[in-house]
Amino acid sequence: MSNPYDDDLPVARFQLSFVKELWPFVRPYKRGFAACLLILFLSFGLELLGPWLMKLAIDGPMRDASAEQNERLSMLWWYGSGFIAVTLGGALLGYIYGLLTAWNGQRVIRDVRRRLFSHVMSTGLSFHERNSAGKLTTRITSDVENLNELISTGVLQSVFDLLKIFGVLAVLFFLDVELALFTVATTPIVVILSVIFRKKAQQAYRAVRSRLALQNAFATELIGGIRTTRAYGQEDAIANRYAERNQATTDAWKDTVQHFSVFFSLVDLALRATTVGLLWFGGKAVLGGDMLPGEFIQFWLYFALLSGPIRELGEKYNVLQAAFASCERIFQLLAEPVFPPPRANGRAPIDSPRSGVAKITFENVEFAYGDGPTVLDGISFTAERGQTVAIVGPTGAGKTTLLSLVSRLRDVGAGSVKIDDVDVRDLDVSQLRRRIAFVAQDLFLFTGTVIDNVRLFDPKVSEERVWRALETVGAADFVRALPDGLQSPVAERGATFSQGERQLLAFARALVVEPDVLVLDEATASIDSESEERLQHALEIALRGRTALVVAHRLSTVRDADQILVLEGGKISERGTHEELVRLDGHYANMTRNAAAVR
Ligand SMILES: Nc1ncnc2c1ncn2[C@@H]1O[C@H](COP(=O)(O)OP(=O)(O)O)[C@@H](O)[C@H]1O
Ligand SMILES: [Mg+2]
Repeated sequence: MSNPYDDDLPVARFQLSFVKELWPFVRPYKRGFAACLLILFLSFGLELLGPWLMKLAIDGPMRDASAEQNERLSMLWWYGSGFIAVTLGGALLGYIYGLLTAWNGQRVIRDVRRRLFSHVMSTGLSFHERNSAGKLTTRITSDVENLNELISTGVLQSVFDLLKIFGVLAVLFFLDVELALFTVATTPIVVILSVIFRKKAQQAYRAVRSRLALQNAFATELIGGIRTTRAYGQEDAIANRYAERNQATTDAWKDTVQHFSVFFSLVDLALRATTVGLLWFGGKAVLGGDMLPGEFIQFWLYFALLSGPIRELGEKYNVLQAAFASCERIFQLLAEPVFPPPRANGRAPIDSPRSGVAKITFENVEFAYGDGPTVLDGISFTAERGQTVAIVGPTGAGKTTLLSLVSRLRDVGAGSVKIDDVDVRDLDVSQLRRRIAFVAQDLFLFTGTVIDNVRLFDPKVSEERVWRALETVGAADFVRALPDGLQSPVAERGATFSQGERQLLAFARALVVEPDVLVLDEATASIDSESEERLQHALEIALRGRTALVVAHRLSTVRDADQILVLEGGKISERGTHEELVRLDGHYANMTRNAAAVR
């Protein structure tokens, strides 16, 4: 299996497919983006006006000795005001542009994030087993954030910066071909510099991004494992592991910063050198009478307009790189198939509303995880309406796997699982899951309140029903004793509750939906004997008239089952009622003897 911390290093190059894939997210806000483009053009126009006004002022009223003093002053005043107006207009447009781009970008990434999150939630369990939660979280947070850069400022601004460079160059050539030729003489140097710099910066930057992502994922997991770490007193060892990754990120950053600094210094140097040359050649032209001083200043100011976009492009390059890499990862994730897969040949799913009770049939079920060994082999049995089927067997026999097939957490490899004689794969999966309550082995409580956890954030479930469920499982007393009752907070993963209390809450969660089928995976395994007695009683009530598949260690839970299946190595080795199996004197009888000895 691949290391879940291995990062997929995308090529981080612009791909035409991005446009196609991004378009649905951008389309709703296309007017906003069009407005941004318009503003960019307007402000560029204003920017071009500045140097021209300057020239008019210098070569006009400043030099024109024939006019009257007052006249010249008032002309100057007008040009000055024009210049200020142009500047103010530019600032205002810049302000609007900033707001608008941020607003556009935020809305797009909000949509992307929502899509991404729900997609991650609907991918198959096998996908989650291959990818750590921390890594997926990074996709949803920082990769989407990078995308924001791309959407709100990146692409638009960069394309525009290019346009601007060409626009300014065109103006320069229009004004004075010789001087313009001189200024573009340094261009090859800048281009060569950026090609060299690019290669190096690209590698360094990608290293930073992927290391940072891994570091985040790593931290999430290490913090999540705090209890284990502490129990074994391994805080230092874990902190060291983290420190190593942290250092790796820092090193990568150092490289990037170095490449950046060198690049910018050299570009600046090239631009400055050009400026000096400009002064010399321009000055000569002015002295020789080929050029007016105002024209020279104008040329200079236009030339100065070049440095902004050039710098910006260099800077944006990395941001864009990161954004393209993120884009690739995001779309890769979105292309991950959902589970269950959409129905083939467009057949509509069969309706399967909740009916109070159901029949479950396994027919020659086979299952393997991925390409792994066979975990379930030729499993066939029927749980008639209202029957309880207990499944016992050693650890690793495949009990949990078997249960996960009923509500389609996974799909069978061969054979079929049927509910009321209909293959579960033919049913609407959300309807199916509403009919089946699954209490998993690893209980999970969410951050929120007790009531949130029992009704799983579904406001349609009334408080009354929640109380009834709590009452049934015998958890009402302990919830009532909590400071805020149902509204008491639950910490992440229910860390402030005992295992037994968590189990009771998980059990209440299963009952509150009034399912047709109960699927319990060792639901009573970690409950103390007093709670167990209560739960045992609750179980009897809950199982009455309801179909149930129960994996249990406790003899008391198993004994009353209508049918007991002994699962060994993925095969059913014995089946029958308690009495029948005891009489058979096989594995089950052995188990009961051991259990009796322990008690
Ligand atoms: N998510 C998984 N991916 C790969 N193999 C798994 C996975 N879950 C369980 N297995 C393997 O499948 C077998 C059955 O596991 P499981 O159904 O959990 O057994 P049980 O619940 O009876 O202890 C074991 O060999 C286990 O290693
Ligand atoms: Mg198990």
